[in-house]
Amino acid sequence: MVKNIAVIRGDGIGPEIVEEALKVLNKIAELYGHTFNYIDADMGGCAIDKYGDPLPQSELQKCIDSDSVLLGAVGGDKWNGVPGNMRPEKGLLRLRAGMGVYSNNRPAKIWPQLSDASPLKKSIVDKGIDFIIVRELIGGIYFGEHKTEGDTAIDVLTYSEAEIERIGRIGFETARKRGKRLCSVEKSNVLDSSRLWKKVMHKLAEEYPDVELSDMLVDNCAMQIVKNPAQFDVVVTENMFGDILSDEASMITGSIGMIPSSSLGATSCGLYEPIHGSAPDIAGKDLANPIGTILSAAMMLRFSFDMPNEADAIENAVSAYLDKGYRTADIMSEGMQQVGCKHCGDLIVENLKKV
Ligand code: IPM
Ligand code: MG
Repeated sequence: MVKNIAVIRGDGIGPEIVEEALKVLNKIAELYGHTFNYIDADMGGCAIDKYGDPLPQSELQKCIDSDSVLLGAVGGDKWNGVPGNMRPEKGLLRLRAGMGVYSNNRPAKIWPQLSDASPLKKSIVDKGIDFIIVRELIGGIYFGEHKTEGDTAIDVLTYSEAEIERIGRIGFETARKRGKRLCSVEKSNVLDSSRLWKKVMHKLAEEYPDVELSDMLVDNCAMQIVKNPAQFDVVVTENMFGDILSDEASMITGSIGMIPSSSLGATSCGLYEPIHGSAPDIAGKDLANPIGTILSAAMMLRFSFDMPNEADAIENAVSAYLDKGYRTADIMSEGMQQVGCKHCGDLIVENLKKV
């Protein structure tokens, strides 16, 4: 197959981790006879420096016209002074909205090889950690009005029934393909938007009698994720709650550097990115862990290109790399062999086998 992939390297460690993911994609293309064309697009701080805009229309269009987008990371202290609507992160939000990718899928799964890296007690980890956070990505407080008037700042949080219903469906469909348990997370004891969220989820549940729906308040959920993560199968939640809970969920698996994500909307053109940030403190030092980006590329093959074997091949190669005891600095532990970002990518390519 021929696929056009828009590639956003971004800022900080972005360019180095994307480079390793492209190495892996090139090897997949070679093994399976595919052609991947890469179209470079600028977004984030580097786009501010180049065009004075974190996501010029030309760059957004390249992404919309592609078969899918692979993104490293954006942002950094260098651009902290720029106004809110011109920040690097604003480019990312405009990209998500422009592509219409309302459904963000963030797996929290512990690799058996890394169970020691979890900050949780062994007795908790041993019960298993394998759940997915389905986060609404283009609504809520992120996209409401933001303004500051004198000594008062205002951020508006809005959700419509239609916005809740479309993400709710993804939650139910995802649960249906897994353990058939969906936990809807909100703050319905305080927020109107959450009361509407809960109502819509329960109405949808009538269409999914095979999925068990439960409700959980977001503060309780934050606690339950560290107390008993094994209880979760699929969590569905609004934009900001999902942002916060997915960082927490990633950390209990050992390292945020390992977690990929997919964002999809009405078409198969998705946005694939690791959930970590641009880590400017280690940028250019060959220290970053490229696995979150490499696994994001695997998700792209699975969810947008319908290439499940190719995706399995990448995940197996990551597992084989971990089995052999290689670790980047973020997940380094005693007795393991520390490798840099480039070497990590090379070793994963070396371990790639056709399935
Ligand atoms: C994420 C990030 C972004 C978000 C930032 C960089 C805007 O934290 O992808 O989780 O809040 O969505
Ligand atoms: Mg986040």
